[in-house]
Amino acid sequence: MPSPTTPPADGTHAEIVPVLDFGGQTAQLICRRVRDAGVFSLLVRPDIPADELAAMNPKGVILSGGPSSVYDPGAPTMDPKVLDLGVPVLGICYGMQIACQILGAEVSKADHREYGRAQMTVSDAVDLFDAVPDNTQVWMSHGDQIRQLHAGNLEPIGATRTCPFAAVRSTDPSKRFWGVQFHPEVTHTPHGSDMFRNFLYEICRCDGLWKMSDYAAEQAEKIRELVGDDRVICGLSGGVDSSVVAALLHKAIGERLTCVFVDNGLLRKKERDLVEHTFIDHFKIDLRVADARDDFLGDLAGVIDPQEKRRRIGHRFIEVFKQAAHEVKGAKFLAQGTLYPDVIESGHGHAGHSANIKLHHNVGGLPEDLGFELIEPLRELFKDEVRRLGAVLGLPDNLIWRHPFPGPGLAVRVLGEITEERLAVVRDCDEILLEEIVAAGLYRKTSQVFAVLLPIQSVGVMGDGRTYESVVALRAVETQDFMTADWARIPFEVLGRISNRIINEVRGVNRVVYDISSKPPATIEWE
Ligand code: XMP
Repeated sequence: MPSPTTPPADGTHAEIVPVLDFGGQTAQLICRRVRDAGVFSLLVRPDIPADELAAMNPKGVILSGGPSSVYDPGAPTMDPKVLDLGVPVLGICYGMQIACQILGAEVSKADHREYGRAQMTVSDAVDLFDAVPDNTQVWMSHGDQIRQLHAGNLEPIGATRTCPFAAVRSTDPSKRFWGVQFHPEVTHTPHGSDMFRNFLYEICRCDGLWKMSDYAAEQAEKIRELVGDDRVICGLSGGVDSSVVAALLHKAIGERLTCVFVDNGLLRKKERDLVEHTFIDHFKIDLRVADARDDFLGDLAGVIDPQEKRRRIGHRFIEVFKQAAHEVKGAKFLAQGTLYPDVIESGHGHAGHSANIKLHHNVGGLPEDLGFELIEPLRELFKDEVRRLGAVLGLPDNLIWRHPFPGPGLAVRVLGEITEERLAVVRDCDEILLEEIVAAGLYRKTSQVFAVLLPIQSVGVMGDGRTYESVVALRAVETQDFMTADWARIPFEVLGRISNRIINEVRGVNRVVYDISSKPPATIEWE
């Protein structure tokens, strides 16, 4: 089985501040804040040995929060020598408590738990709190707190009404430690970003070397080294991730890249055109379009069970892709658009206790045993960084900001039987919906917007006649991670225009409804 080869999260960044992940829900967010401030960061397991951490040559280290209590048996621990590496360490919530415990402080259940906003009085507005107001809002989420500091090696630098050690600093120059009980990484701590910048630039003396243009050049160089004179295949889906992978590989190895795009007949309007135009006309990439529309639609004839639809589509996709890939002579590598959150969530990253197994939708994905070595050049990046990389590589805005589209495509948006006619109806409705959403300036404010053709008919009246036609549901959601989502509050006027246009312009539809369910309990797609 091929192993994911490149480019690893190998700590070879010129400047890095790793985060020890004690399982807090906002551990990833800490990484993002650090990167947003211009310094590379990634999650590492909480018990990473100090010498392994030292080998990464970090400019500083951050300890995340976590759900445990430091005094619980089995609570995650850290190598105490991390505090002696000679680089600054910032502990957040649990991270603060565990480090302070190592430094001799006493941690126990708080008399007054603090959840939500609190006001902190800053007693020393230098280093970590440079330019932070004396009285500042912070976001708390803790049931334990530091009861007592060990005499002589730590001092308080911030307090709230019930938490006398809301922020501390070591007084021992050999231990460069700062700790905060609150969460500077969340937006409810309005000066949190300032505190990160202070930590990174004033305390760790970082230079801010994390720049997307340099990253693109570095990654292209790594890919060139790895690939040598071989050829790489990249499966393009039309979405932002695979498009960025293709553009990056093209920059790295030029014509030794072949892209494969499977037209499964379940695409939205103009989707294939956009991919062909971008990659053939603009980038001049060797793009092979595998036109398998008849095969997919043949497989789906008469199938109404959603799981069975997915199974057949997934199976056919692999067959078609395999065939297309094997027609590309001399290819040794397969490039994929795996992102950092997927690496963490599938438990393959350095992540610690927050690593849980994501129930991945793997329809439209490829098995690991296709016989290629994998290249996953986005393994270190968050979604917004992928978009920035896309921009640096010259991808057009309409590709970079595309809403995600599921692998099984319109098949999961045509409820009931899939026929050419029913696909055409949903395609036309979808196009009108997207046109109006874009025209109203709502595309970038929403995360996913689409039309669903329902498997029922309803009575209507058009002109003087009775109609008995299809019902279309409109779905628009806002979400950060697609695991939970809220329905988007699209203005009534916009919904009215969309409904009006659909009923007037799409034959066979006489009723439009708007889906106002959140996820959970609903899902984003209807099937
Ligand atoms: P749900 O419907 O589970 O969708 O709330 C969450 C996100 O995943 C997308 N989705 C899929 N993506 N293959 C994919 O590649 C699939 O089978 C699949 N099913 C859902 C969905 O569009 C949303 O963005």
